[in-house]
Amino acid sequence: MNKKAMVITYGCQMNVNDSAKIKAQLTKQGYEITENLKDSDLVFINTCTVREGASKKVYGKLGELKTLKKTKKDMIVGVTGCLAQEKKDEILKRAPHVNLVLGNQNIYQIPEYLSKLENDEIKHVVLVDNEDELPPRLDADFDSNFSGCVSITYGCDNFCTYCIVPYVRGRERSVPVKDIITDINNLLKKGYKEIILLGQNVNSYGKGLTNGENFAKLLKEISKIEGKFRLRFMSPHPKDFTDDVIESIIADERISRNIHLPLQAGSTSVLKKMNRGYTKEDYLKLVEKLRSKIKNIALTTDIIVGFPYETEEDFKDTLDVVEKARYENAYMFMYSKRDETPAATMEKQVSEAEKKDRLQRLIEVQTRITKEESNKYLNKEIEILVEGLSPRNKEMYIGRTDSNKVVIFKGDETLIGKFATVKINEANTWTLYGELI
Ligand code: SAH
Ligand code: SF4
Ligand code: F3S
Repeated sequence: MNKKAMVITYGCQMNVNDSAKIKAQLTKQGYEITENLKDSDLVFINTCTVREGASKKVYGKLGELKTLKKTKKDMIVGVTGCLAQEKKDEILKRAPHVNLVLGNQNIYQIPEYLSKLENDEIKHVVLVDNEDELPPRLDADFDSNFSGCVSITYGCDNFCTYCIVPYVRGRERSVPVKDIITDINNLLKKGYKEIILLGQNVNSYGKGLTNGENFAKLLKEISKIEGKFRLRFMSPHPKDFTDDVIESIIADERISRNIHLPLQAGSTSVLKKMNRGYTKEDYLKLVEKLRSKIKNIALTTDIIVGFPYETEEDFKDTLDVVEKARYENAYMFMYSKRDETPAATMEKQVSEAEKKDRLQRLIEVQTRITKEESNKYLNKEIEILVEGLSPRNKEMYIGRTDSNKVVIFKGDETLIGKFATVKINEANTWTLYGELI
């Protein structure tokens, strides 16, 4: 019988992408991938530390594994990802049953160290290099057969003062255009219909390359690839959203009109303390420009409430931008202190009660806007990419619009992974309901 391995993923799309690479390597090592922890001979936890809640979840899971390992002594436990990068010593102290701690840059070494562990040559490995080099290209086994990711940059140089990512993902580096094109072509050849370009700040792509490459040119190069597919990218930074990027988007309708444009805060003084590189006015001007130039644009965003020094007036600026930008969806967070980041030691931290109150109020406003924007889809005929059976109602299928809205409709399994057109006849806040036409 095959040995079984489970990969548990926390955090963002970068981790989802790295987990797909880990799974591909484990499969090559003879493991069968399982979703059942109790069946597993090997468990890999791919961790996140962007907020305190994210790291707490990881420690909770490690505790669960400790109990499980009492009855499954031979089980190998590996930890990688951003918390491993940040807190390797603490992980080993709190969870001595962990066999393998690997940094974000070390996942390509999994086969080498796994063999040593399996052969009892070693008991523990800790390898956390934070080299600022491009990691070697690795195959990936995505959970989906039609939606796949391609990393175009690694790391981040922006050092937003609240954010730990630059410390755990290293300096920003760009993947050469030809490698990105090869990866995309390979996915398309396998029948993938949606390609997601990944980076912490995709529109600063090319900064470190000496041949004048930039994000707008990369998009143009990808546009030369023929065929029908959807291209998404995550996340662009408002400060780097140049006109030529807008032109590249306009020129190719296969590029998703869902632009994720992280706001973080609406107040210029808070944005300055966050080191975001734009003002409230710059941001609103960009939104206006995007809306006037790109038809059917669907904006989404990330917002933090309760950053140090944020007053009620500052928070009202956030609400004001939210009202004006009219996002279809927003990821909203309470500010969470991260060790070593400049904001963690800023005076005037906002109280937990205040943060909770602001988050609640922000969610209320955004939920109303999401519902209002959702209503705009009513009676429209819209193309969706069909993902599979709806998890809630097994008779119904689920698809996604170009703008990334979920549509539930009555279909059949031959449509999975294909484009279809539906007419929307009901619009809830988060979900649309439609029928095939
Ligand atoms: N590089 C991406 C996102 C990185 S992290 C970008 O710049 O858009 C994802 C989101 O987590 C951020 O956009 C931010 O809203 C949130 N985040 C990051 N650090 C945080 C912190 N210390 N507390 C609360 N939210 C945080
Ligand atoms: Fe963090 Fe800012 Fe970089 Fe995004 S751009 S990863 S928020 S430092
Ligand atoms: Fe988390 Fe690392 Fe992503 S900290 S959000 S997994 S880059």
